[in-house]
Amino acid sequence: MTFTSTAFQQALISWFHAEQRPLPWRRDYLPYQIWISEIMLQQTQMERVTLFFERWLRQFPDIHSLAGADEDLVLKCWEGLGYYSRARNIHKCARIIVREHDGVIPSDQKSLLALPGIGPYTAGAIASIAYNLPVPLVDANIGRLFARLFNIDTPLSQAQKLLWQKAKELVPEEQARSFNQGLMELGALICTPKKPACSRCPLISFCIAHREDLVAERPILQKGAAQLTIEMATGILPHPHRDGRFFIQQRLADDVWGGLWEFPGGRLKPEELPEQAVIREFLEETGFAVQVEKKITTTIHFYTRYKVILHCFLCTLEASDLSEPPVPLLSAAQQYRWVNLAGLDDFAFPAGHRKLIEFIKLHPAAQ
Ligand code: ADE
Repeated sequence: MTFTSTAFQQALISWFHAEQRPLPWRRDYLPYQIWISEIMLQQTQMERVTLFFERWLRQFPDIHSLAGADEDLVLKCWEGLGYYSRARNIHKCARIIVREHDGVIPSDQKSLLALPGIGPYTAGAIASIAYNLPVPLVDANIGRLFARLFNIDTPLSQAQKLLWQKAKELVPEEQARSFNQGLMELGALICTPKKPACSRCPLISFCIAHREDLVAERPILQKGAAQLTIEMATGILPHPHRDGRFFIQQRLADDVWGGLWEFPGGRLKPEELPEQAVIREFLEETGFAVQVEKKITTTIHFYTRYKVILHCFLCTLEASDLSEPPVPLLSAAQQYRWVNLAGLDDFAFPAGHRKLIEFIKLHPAAQ
């Protein structure tokens, strides 16, 4: 078939109307819900997002409830989604939108792009999906789809300009909402990275890679940087009164896990053993001299570019004067608490520390 935008657009939009997944934010297309779902979807799988999204809406049904919330609660509701700068930015955005835009999420690109954590993709998603405006967007699914449709023979990281230009040329004046979602949905359901279901593709007649039998070769994959392994050690320190409480601290605002809670610890230095690292980190971060009682477990967590191995120990204070509650000298945290096992659920922890807590709950003898 010769390429006409209208035929292409109609084929995609009809397919989307028939085949779209019934996602919670597709019920009403409220800008607040579209914004939250798109931020959640940036680094997290769809199934997980739908679970977290419903819970999020119960806690923060609208932008005003979010803007008025404490950051601690926002981080706690984000726990499990990872990449916490997204949660901190959502919270900042909500406050700016309430203050500067009367609580209405803007639809124009300039105002959207001025908000923290909103780049061209999210700005395009809010404008087109929430407001149905003819604004283009490109994400990884669309990049792969276009690489095949237009037989793009460079790695996608080098083809961004072309991809955005194609998205801009194709987005229709009307029905941009269905069109842009259709592109992403087709990438997610049919034009998948491995074994794409070409026989069920509504755009097969427009697809140059299919015509030239090059679908398996598109997109051209760039050799990724090897995944980096980071080794860390952390320690659970029971209160010397042995009252079931543990020491936790809240990280400073301006680091990757800013605002999250943790057990003290950190990265191993070269040649350092995990048990040496946990003793050193405790001293540096809290001023507490601890000794290692035993190893509890090792947790492993995968991030996009990192694998974090976390060695977890049970520690005790070296010489504890039981008459005085121990007071830390914090260097890596804004505040500390002594909290019992059930109470830990009220705080947001990075994934490795949360896995440690769940391990202790299942293995009480570990503490
Ligand atoms: N992935 C990210 N956003 C999406 C959307 N709106 N529809 C389908 N897949 C998506």
